[in-house]
Amino acid sequence: MICKVAALILCSALFMSSSVLGFAQECPQDRKTPTAPQEFLALKNPLLFDDKTLKAGENLFHNQAKPIACKFCHGIKGNGKSDPDFESTPPPRNFTCRETMGKLPDGQLFWVIKNGSKNTSMFAFPGLSDNQIWQLVHYVRSFGK
Ligand code: HEC
Repeated sequence: MICKVAALILCSALFMSSSVLGFAQECPQDRKTPTAPQEFLALKNPLLFDDKTLKAGENLFHNQAKPIACKFCHGIKGNGKSDPDFESTPPPRNFTCRETMGKLPDGQLFWVIKNGSKNTSMFAFPGLSDNQIWQLVHYVRSFGK
Protein backbone atom coordinates (compact mmCIF):
# COMPACT_ATOMS: atom_id res chain seq x y z
CA MET A 1 0.00 0.00 0.00
CA ILE A 2 2.71 2.46 1.04
CA CYS A 3 4.58 1.37 -2.07
CA LYS A 4 1.60 2.15 -4.29
CA VAL A 5 1.19 5.60 -2.78
CA ALA A 6 4.89 6.36 -3.20
CA ALA A 7 4.77 5.24 -6.83
CA LEU A 8 1.75 7.42 -7.45
CA ILE A 9 3.41 10.48 -5.94
CA LEU A 10 6.58 9.87 -7.94
CA CYS A 11 4.57 9.41 -11.11
CA SER A 12 2.57 12.58 -10.72
CA ALA A 13 5.71 14.55 -9.81
CA LEU A 14 7.37 13.30 -12.99
CA PHE A 15 4.31 14.06 -15.07
CA MET A 16 3.99 17.58 -13.66
CA SER A 17 7.63 18.46 -14.16
CA SER A 18 7.57 17.15 -17.71
CA SER A 19 4.60 19.32 -18.62
CA VAL A 20 6.00 22.37 -16.83
CA LEU A 21 9.29 21.97 -18.69
CA GLY A 22 7.44 21.57 -21.95
CA PHE A 23 8.62 18.03 -22.68
CA ALA A 24 5.09 16.72 -23.04
CA GLN A 25 3.65 17.30 -26.48
CA GLU A 26 0.13 17.97 -25.46
CA CYS A 27 -2.72 17.65 -27.90
CA PRO A 28 -5.14 19.36 -27.74
CA GLN A 29 -2.86 22.09 -26.49
CA ASP A 30 -3.73 24.98 -24.17
CA ARG A 31 -3.47 28.36 -25.87
CA LYS A 32 -2.45 31.58 -24.13
CA THR A 33 -2.63 33.59 -27.33
CA PRO A 34 -5.56 36.02 -27.61
CA THR A 35 -7.97 36.01 -30.53
CA ALA A 36 -6.99 38.24 -33.46
CA PRO A 37 -9.16 41.25 -34.39
CA GLN A 38 -12.12 40.41 -36.66
CA GLU A 39 -10.60 41.97 -39.79
CA PHE A 40 -7.67 39.54 -39.52
CA LEU A 41 -9.83 36.48 -38.81
CA ALA A 42 -11.66 37.04 -42.08
CA LEU A 43 -8.43 36.91 -44.15
CA LYS A 44 -7.78 33.94 -46.40
CA ASN A 45 -4.33 32.84 -47.50
CA PRO A 46 -3.92 34.35 -51.00
CA LEU A 47 -1.07 31.98 -51.96
CA LEU A 48 -1.35 28.54 -53.52
CA PHE A 49 -0.51 25.59 -51.26
CA ASP A 50 2.16 24.34 -53.67
CA ASP A 51 5.82 23.29 -53.64
CA LYS A 52 7.11 26.77 -54.37
CA THR A 53 5.23 28.34 -51.44
CA LEU A 54 6.11 25.51 -49.06
CA LYS A 55 9.82 25.69 -49.99
CA ALA A 56 9.87 29.45 -49.29
CA GLY A 57 8.06 28.90 -45.96
CA GLU A 58 10.46 26.13 -45.04
CA ASN A 59 13.48 28.39 -45.59
CA LEU A 60 12.00 31.12 -43.41
CA PHE A 61 10.96 28.70 -40.66
CA HIS A 62 14.33 26.95 -40.41
CA ASN A 63 16.84 29.65 -41.36
CA GLN A 64 15.85 33.05 -42.63
CA ALA A 65 13.38 34.49 -40.08
CA LYS A 66 15.12 37.12 -37.96
CA PRO A 67 16.13 37.55 -35.15
CA ILE A 68 15.46 33.86 -34.33
CA ALA A 69 14.21 31.25 -36.78
CA CYS A 70 10.91 29.62 -35.80
CA LYS A 71 12.45 26.14 -35.46
CA PHE A 72 14.38 27.15 -32.33
CA CYS A 73 11.10 27.33 -30.41
CA HIS A 74 8.59 25.32 -32.47
CA GLY A 75 11.10 22.55 -33.22
CA ILE A 76 12.44 21.22 -36.52
CA LYS A 77 9.43 18.91 -36.75
CA GLY A 78 7.01 21.71 -35.81
CA ASN A 79 5.81 19.74 -32.80
CA GLY A 80 6.54 22.47 -30.24
CA LYS A 81 9.53 20.58 -28.84
CA SER A 82 12.06 23.32 -28.68
CA ASP A 83 15.77 23.46 -28.38
CA PRO A 84 16.45 23.35 -24.61
CA ASP A 85 17.92 26.86 -24.77
CA PHE A 86 14.58 28.26 -25.89
CA GLU A 87 12.21 26.53 -23.52
CA SER A 88 9.35 28.77 -22.53
CA THR A 89 6.14 28.92 -20.57
CA PRO A 90 3.65 28.57 -22.15
CA PRO A 91 5.23 26.04 -24.51
CA PRO A 92 5.37 26.96 -28.21
CA ARG A 93 2.51 25.81 -30.43
CA ASN A 94 2.58 22.20 -31.56
CA PHE A 95 1.72 22.54 -35.26
CA THR A 96 1.27 18.77 -35.64
CA CYS A 97 -1.75 18.87 -33.30
CA ARG A 98 -4.71 18.96 -35.70
CA GLU A 99 -7.23 19.29 -32.91
CA THR A 100 -5.79 22.68 -31.90
CA MET A 101 -4.59 23.92 -35.29
CA GLY A 102 -7.80 22.95 -37.09
CA LYS A 103 -9.77 25.46 -35.04
CA LEU A 104 -7.48 28.40 -35.93
CA PRO A 105 -8.28 30.38 -39.08
CA ASP A 106 -5.45 31.43 -41.44
CA GLY A 107 -5.92 35.05 -40.39
CA GLN A 108 -5.27 34.16 -36.72
CA LEU A 109 -1.92 32.61 -37.62
CA PHE A 110 -1.05 35.58 -39.87
CA TRP A 111 -1.85 38.06 -37.08
CA VAL A 112 0.26 36.24 -34.48
CA ILE A 113 3.32 36.01 -36.72
CA LYS A 114 3.02 39.70 -37.61
CA ASN A 115 2.25 41.02 -34.12
CA GLY A 116 3.43 38.39 -31.66
CA SER A 117 1.49 36.98 -28.72
CA LYS A 118 1.61 39.21 -25.65
CA ASN A 119 2.70 37.54 -22.39
CA THR A 120 4.30 34.61 -24.24
CA SER A 121 7.76 34.26 -25.76
CA MET A 122 6.22 34.53 -29.25
CA PHE A 123 7.47 37.93 -30.34
CA ALA A 124 6.43 39.90 -33.41
CA PHE A 125 8.21 39.50 -36.74
CA PRO A 126 7.80 43.00 -38.23
CA GLY A 127 10.67 42.35 -40.69
CA LEU A 128 8.64 39.77 -42.64
CA SER A 129 6.57 40.91 -45.61
CA ASP A 130 2.89 39.89 -45.79
CA ASN A 131 3.84 37.50 -48.59
CA GLN A 132 6.47 35.81 -46.41
CA ILE A 133 3.99 35.48 -43.53
CA TRP A 134 1.48 33.76 -45.82
CA GLN A 135 4.25 31.38 -46.96
CA LEU A 136 4.86 30.55 -43.28
CA VAL A 137 1.14 30.02 -42.62
CA HIS A 138 1.02 27.37 -45.36
CA TYR A 139 4.27 25.82 -44.16
CA VAL A 140 3.22 25.48 -40.48
CA ARG A 141 -0.07 23.92 -41.63
CA SER A 142 1.91 21.32 -43.61
CA PHE A 143 3.15 19.82 -40.29
CA GLY A 144 -0.39 18.69 -39.53
CA LYS A 145 -1.13 17.16 -42.93
C1 HEC B 1 11.09 32.48 -28.77
C2 HEC B 1 10.21 31.37 -29.11
C3 HEC B 1 9.39 31.45 -30.38
C4 HEC B 1 9.80 31.77 -31.66
C5 HEC B 1 11.20 32.14 -32.14
C6 HEC B 1 8.64 31.65 -32.50
N1 HEC B 1 7.54 31.27 -31.75
FE1 HEC B 1 5.64 31.03 -32.45
N2 HEC B 1 4.97 30.71 -30.55
C7 HEC B 1 5.76 30.67 -29.42
C8 HEC B 1 4.90 30.59 -28.25
C9 HEC B 1 5.36 30.51 -26.81
C10 HEC B 1 3.56 30.60 -28.72
C11 HEC B 1 2.27 30.74 -27.92
C12 HEC B 1 1.71 29.52 -27.29
C13 HEC B 1 0.36 29.81 -26.65
O1 HEC B 1 -0.51 30.51 -27.20
O2 HEC B 1 0.13 29.29 -25.56
C14 HEC B 1 3.65 30.65 -30.17
C15 HEC B 1 2.55 30.61 -31.01
C16 HEC B 1 2.61 30.59 -32.40
C17 HEC B 1 1.48 30.40 -33.27
C18 HEC B 1 0.03 30.07 -32.85
C19 HEC B 1 -0.81 31.24 -32.53
C20 HEC B 1 -2.19 30.88 -31.97
O3 HEC B 1 -3.10 31.68 -32.16
O4 HEC B 1 -2.36 29.85 -31.32
C21 HEC B 1 1.95 30.48 -34.55
C22 HEC B 1 1.16 30.35 -35.85
C23 HEC B 1 3.38 30.71 -34.47
N3 HEC B 1 3.74 30.78 -33.14
C24 HEC B 1 4.21 30.81 -35.57
C25 HEC B 1 5.57 31.12 -35.48
C26 HEC B 1 6.41 31.37 -36.65
C27 HEC B 1 5.95 31.23 -38.09
C28 HEC B 1 7.64 31.71 -36.17
C29 HEC B 1 8.85 32.15 -36.96
C30 HEC B 1 8.67 33.25 -37.90
C31 HEC B 1 7.59 31.63 -34.71
N4 HEC B 1 6.31 31.29 -34.34
C32 HEC B 1 8.64 31.88 -33.87
C33 HEC B 1 7.15 30.77 -29.39
C34 HEC B 1 7.96 31.14 -30.46
